[in-house]
Amino acid sequence: MIVCETIEQIRAELNASAHPVVFVPTMGALHEGHLSLVKRAREWGGINAKVVVSIYVNPTQFAPNEDFKSYPRELESDLEKCREAGVDVIFAPEGSLFPESASTHIVEDSLSEGLCGKSRPHFFGGVCTVVAKLFNIVQPNAAVFGEKDFQQLAIIRRMVRDLDFPIEILGAPIVREPDGLAMSSRNQYLSERERGQAKVLSEALEMAKQYMIAGERDPDAVDSVVRSRIQTARSARIDYVQIVDPEDLRELSKIEDQALVAIAVFLGKTRLIDNICVRGLA
Ligand code: PAJ
Repeated sequence: MIVCETIEQIRAELNASAHPVVFVPTMGALHEGHLSLVKRAREWGGINAKVVVSIYVNPTQFAPNEDFKSYPRELESDLEKCREAGVDVIFAPEGSLFPESASTHIVEDSLSEGLCGKSRPHFFGGVCTVVAKLFNIVQPNAAVFGEKDFQQLAIIRRMVRDLDFPIEILGAPIVREPDGLAMSSRNQYLSERERGQAKVLSEALEMAKQYMIAGERDPDAVDSVVRSRIQTARSARIDYVQIVDPEDLRELSKIEDQALVAIAVFLGKTRLIDNICVRGLA
């Protein structure tokens, strides 16, 4: 496994490659969720592909009051996990990827409006800009993103379509802990008590799914079920619960064939997101 710390290094490494390049962008503190994307990348690219993982905590997607400074940084153990997972190339830039006077930004202004975009207005601008930069640096044939961040995946697909990046975007399913909690680098912020309560998120989503499968078509009714379940956890504070169309992320007035139930919940100070996408309801 080759570790590149500069743009020049990774360009030199990959330009020489005659094989497909499959890319997994991350912010590190890697867990089984990230590693499932690496596996998906290898499946897509085959044995000869170069699987590239970037590890970069992107400052531009954090608001000033958010956890940029305290975000977990575990480069050594991340490298070990990548080595074991069969990653070929790591891009872990030493310093900032942004020139001091950077003044060009990518804004997606439709899918980014609701859900996390509402509570974190600058977030997806930061994500799109860094992902576009990483795409230009790595120039992959395909890139893998998790459905855990469903809105992010949808926005990246849109950006790639709108701006003609010649990159195939692959989605990968959410990887969960045995009690259902979606894996996240931020789970390590949870106290023991909060961690115990965190399973209400996935339980609430599973209940929503069962209600819809049983024929519930009123988004408000599904919303109430989800909220009530989450509120059984004493440390939980709901940021949002939304039932949207998984294609355009618009709020549904009636549930028909498919629905995405997306939630963001604070457990103490830690904000966690999760979602469930149910299709084939009609
Ligand atoms: P990060 O939160 O590190 O996540 C990197 C990738 O791992 C994302 O595509 C995310 O959806 C996926 N992922 C995280 N937890 C997962 C889980 N439990 N199951 C499946 N996939 C999971 O997302 C980011 O970083 C950043 O916004 C980034 C795209 C790297 C841009 O800075």
